[in-house]
Amino acid sequence: MSKTTNTVYLNGQFLPIEQASISVMDRGFLFGDGVYEVVPVFGNKLLRPEGHLKRLQNSLDRISLDNPHTVTEWQAVFANLLDHNPGDDRAIYLQISRGAYARRDLRANQDCAPTIFAMVLHVTPPDIDVLSAGISVITVDDFRWNACDIKSTSLVANVMLKQQAADAGVDDAILIREDHVTEGTASNIFLIRDGVLITPPTGHQLLPGITRDLVIEIAKNNAIIVEEREIKEIELQDADEIWMTSSTREIAPVINLNGQAVGRGVAGSVWKRMMDLYQQYKQHLRDNEAVPPE
Ligand code: PDD
Repeated sequence: MSKTTNTVYLNGQFLPIEQASISVMDRGFLFGDGVYEVVPVFGNKLLRPEGHLKRLQNSLDRISLDNPHTVTEWQAVFANLLDHNPGDDRAIYLQISRGAYARRDLRANQDCAPTIFAMVLHVTPPDIDVLSAGISVITVDDFRWNACDIKSTSLVANVMLKQQAADAGVDDAILIREDHVTEGTASNIFLIRDGVLITPPTGHQLLPGITRDLVIEIAKNNAIIVEEREIKEIELQDADEIWMTSSTREIAPVINLNGQAVGRGVAGSVWKRMMDLYQQYKQHLRDNEAVPPE
């Protein structure tokens, strides 16, 4: 993800980003009182828009905020934004906050128009050679709240955890709560042990990633056994492979954990196979109108 483009969507209008402004009383700004989504776009096709909109609805329901748009209206916003901001691989970022009250007040009890914002992010497709080199991570204490299934714009805890990784000189962190793996700072975690793909179950302690869903589906359709179950921290040490998945990162192989090699210390064979299948899925999406087979 790098530069943003010119035309953004704000509260029903498409306008140059320089002209898009919101109130300093916006609850998104004051409290992080809002939710967001990041939807990858390959060619001109959105990756699983229905999954992203469903997760958005879940986030909105969890914070008791009405969805300001129908699915059809969202689709029109996305199509319009993509037209305004041409390119190949992109992503749509959208966020909805509870809007601006006249006074700073934690109570969310007023009838108030939400602030609806969306923009296109230009994405550099992950270079397979760079990805294959793998990443190094550390484990850190997951001190976040018990509502991590909400894709909330309140991300200060994730910022702090990512910074812990940066301060340790590594790329990212795997979060541990009560001796169990939850997720990454902005990704889901998979582990390979004896050819079986294992990932923690969804719930309040992690975000149900759309990439996570896709990886599970692709695995099942290609005879890779999948287990959705709790992962003990100690299991990380014996993993043959560890992956981090997200819309922007796709599937990143972890080759070093807390200074120790993961498996053989290089991207593993199951990762290579999954990456191939994932790239085929993307290419199919780019080339076809119909939903591709997984
Ligand atoms: N974040 N867990 C967390 C905490 C995340 O922030 C993300 C993604 C994921 C993976 O979800 P998905 O596969 O749907 O991208 C898991 C996005 C990319 C972000 O904040 O930019």
